[in-house]
Amino acid sequence: MQDQSTPANMTAAPVAGAITIKNLNKVFDTGSGKVVALQDINLTIDEDEFVSVVGPSGCGKTTLLTILAGLATQTSGTAELRGAAIAGPRRDVGVVFQSPVLFPWRSVLENVLLPIDVLRLNRSEFVPKAEALLAMAGLAGFEKKYPAQLSGGMQQRVGLVRALISEPAMLLMDEPFGALDALTRENMNLELQRIWMETRRTVFFITHSIGEAIFLGDRVLVMTPRPGQLKLEIKIDLPRPRNLEMMASPEVGLYMRQIRECLSAKGGIG
Ligand SMILES: Nc1ncnc2c1ncn2[C@@H]1O[C@H](COP(=O)(O)OP(=O)(O)OP(=O)(O)O)[C@@H](O)[C@H]1O
Ligand SMILES: [Mg+2]
Repeated sequence: MQDQSTPANMTAAPVAGAITIKNLNKVFDTGSGKVVALQDINLTIDEDEFVSVVGPSGCGKTTLLTILAGLATQTSGTAELRGAAIAGPRRDVGVVFQSPVLFPWRSVLENVLLPIDVLRLNRSEFVPKAEALLAMAGLAGFEKKYPAQLSGGMQQRVGLVRALISEPAMLLMDEPFGALDALTRENMNLELQRIWMETRRTVFFITHSIGEAIFLGDRVLVMTPRPGQLKLEIKIDLPRPRNLEMMASPEVGLYMRQIRECLSAKGGIG
């Protein structure tokens, strides 16, 4: 991996983080007026850092993610990945949306290989990797099944594996587990932590669940309602691997309270 911020290169020009956002604003010009979705966002995310983002509905979380994914552009300010301005979707950035958007006529394996087909890479080279990733996600034996034959949680894991197949250095995730039941969601959180610990990479993870944000994140960012601004950031100082018992600890209770208070100051989480 490049651009790692080690003490050895501290004397050189400042090393850009994995994601660097400066004075970023996004204004939507709608028929009925302007909507300021993001206002003066400043943020640096380090290489291999797991950053969770919470905030009320409509505060601009998805807008920020689509800018980072190169699917939308900011109105002003800068957004850089490893020191390069974001100019469009990139192979080294994987995106996971709330619903996994699998193609029903493609098998699990073929769904996972979709980015390889889109990038016109040699499919056969990636089949063993796809199989290994599916096994890591607990989906060994399901390669030839179709999405309709899988549960929601399994489909979401296929979506996650698909985002990992091109070995993105960065993962952008927009409420990936929002539609799952509580138990499946906890299992997915454990699974994601395990995958992340095995294959370290930078993660920008949007969620409506404060507990999930704390459980997974090295840092939790809290955004305010429109115009979306970063209001609070909390470093989560819990050892890894984290387990569900830790979620009942006093430290986590304190993190929860800080985040809740921050959110309720402006009308609560959506
Ligand atoms: N294409 C668009 N055109 C006009 N306004 C938009 C557009 N996309 C988003 N917005 C507005 O920008 C604001 C932020 O939207 P965004 O989808 O980023 O919120 P969010 O934090 O992801 O919300 P949620 O938690 O409900 O997903 C909202 O007020 C929304 O109405
Ligand atoms: Mg959203």
